[in-house]
Amino acid sequence: MSQPKISLIGGGQIGGNLALIAAQKELGDVTIFDIPKAEGMVKGKALDLMQLRPHDGYDSNISGTSNWNDLKNTDVFIITAGIPRKPGMNREDLLEINLGIMKDVAKNIKEQAPNSFVIVISNPLDAMVYTFYKVSGFSKNKVVGMAGALDSARFRTFLAMETGCSVQDITCMVLGGHGDTMVPITRLATIGGVPLEELIPSDRLDEIVERTRFAGGEIVKLFGNGSAYYAPAQSAIEMAESYLKDKKRVIPCASLCEGEFGINGYFIGVPSVIGSGGVEKILEFDLKDEEKAALDNTLEAVKNTVKETGL
Ligand code: APR
Repeated sequence: MSQPKISLIGGGQIGGNLALIAAQKELGDVTIFDIPKAEGMVKGKALDLMQLRPHDGYDSNISGTSNWNDLKNTDVFIITAGIPRKPGMNREDLLEINLGIMKDVAKNIKEQAPNSFVIVISNPLDAMVYTFYKVSGFSKNKVVGMAGALDSARFRTFLAMETGCSVQDITCMVLGGHGDTMVPITRLATIGGVPLEELIPSDRLDEIVERTRFAGGEIVKLFGNGSAYYAPAQSAIEMAESYLKDKKRVIPCASLCEGEFGINGYFIGVPSVIGSGGVEKILEFDLKDEEKAALDNTLEAVKNTVKETGL
């Protein structure tokens, strides 16, 4: 039986880690694609990962290419093509360069594998996933952005660090855009089922929420050159795995809203059910007034960046 085909567009920091985790989970055969200038780099990474197989025991094949024809019949694409942030930049500063790259990638993906499921990671995320959707003409359930999964993981991490409880027992969701206006829904967060707001004083919780909002920037500052890659890679793999195995996991993702939460025509972080149909459903729930106001605020930020795409 043939293995699912996973193609990674961009073989840099996140791309390399995506390849490693996808192979370790034996999700399918992995092709790492990059521009011709970086062909040697992705071929080298692929070979290195093949040589890790005897230790780890996975049988997935990994290859590198800069030829779009090698990506025919791909089942899942994960796109990280573009440039990452440097200190002092926000995600929106990447728009000009990454927009051109995303348009080119969308056209090529449409040509090679028009029925694939596409996960976008490149920033500014909400505008990049919108660009892919508009240029490719894919159906809305086959295009999704990775943001909420990572933002929620960051929130969970800080809550585990604060309480000393296992991160496994902390549930929470972060909605909205993948920027400083994101909306952690603290009201619904629990630790082992116990409401979070009863365990952490509200002023301390505000500080943790603030750290979550700027968690990506915290790492950019520490690195001095480039942005986070381990956790972003794992977050996208969870989404790919849910699609390939039809797990129907509920993951906060940038999905196209058509009326959900009062949002129309924009990709924004909402709880999404991912199964073999792609984004099969958005789970809607009533927001409190202040949550709605925060979501409206993040929507404005997303609209402004999307407007700059001119699409
Ligand atoms: N097609 C394919 N790959 C491309 C293209 C293109 N048109 N243009 C650039 N790339 C490749 C680069 O050659 C590089 O190898 O994309 C890769 C990006 O890798 P890194 O610079 O290491 O960036 P990374 O940390 O992986 O982040 C990628 O994800 O989280 C976002 O903000 C981040 O937009 C950035 C993206």
